[in-house]
Amino acid sequence: MKKYFVLALLFSIPLTQVIAGDLEQRAEQSRVVIKEFAGALKAELRKAIKKGGPLQAITVCNTIAPAIARHQSTKHGWHVGRTSLKPRNPDNTPDNWEKSVLEKFEARKKAGESTAKMEYFEVVEQDGKKKFRYMKAIPAKKKPCLACHGTNINPDVAAALDKLYPNDQARGYKAGDIRGAFSITQPM
Ligand code: HEC
Repeated sequence: MKKYFVLALLFSIPLTQVIAGDLEQRAEQSRVVIKEFAGALKAELRKAIKKGGPLQAITVCNTIAPAIARHQSTKHGWHVGRTSLKPRNPDNTPDNWEKSVLEKFEARKKAGESTAKMEYFEVVEQDGKKKFRYMKAIPAKKKPCLACHGTNINPDVAAALDKLYPNDQARGYKAGDIRGAFSITQPM
């Protein structure tokens, strides 16, 4: 940030503008990483469903989704993950900041905003350190999401989910609901 301060003075750019630019750049980097995450997951999910239906595809969500998140977290030195107000995996339970953003997303949707590009980011102070935090809403689509997150889940699929996630809350969604969000924390 010091470097930007000097630059701002040199070129007489208002510092607020420089900071806003830095945040926008961090947001853009977050969007790129999320696009990779979502793209990779969707491709694997599609492949698995085609091969063995939703029952077989559970393994993709169960193992590949956390693996992609871990890989991206290590690669960028950030925390990259998914969260939800009604998580399936308790590891995806939102922290206080994530919970408040998810609640704001619900309010924004209720007020008529489209969820397609719904996002939120800000700098927060955590453990005495400044962090850039970013979230992007994940809308539930009829296909393929509701096969595993909807109201009419095939009994075999439901039984397999029960076994893996005894405290599963991520059912009963309708198309268009906010299923959760991608969440990124970048150290500054
Ligand atoms: C084949 C079943 C299946 C399908 C289809 C599926 N999911 Fe999931 N979903 C899961 C499982 C299993 C988990 C738990 C993953 C884990 O352990 O991290 C999960 C977790 C999630 C999470 C992370 C938060 C949480 O609840 O733990 C989100 C967000 C999510 N799914 C969204 C979607 C969306 C959006 C779609 C459609 C594009 C979708 N899912 C399709 C099975 C599925």
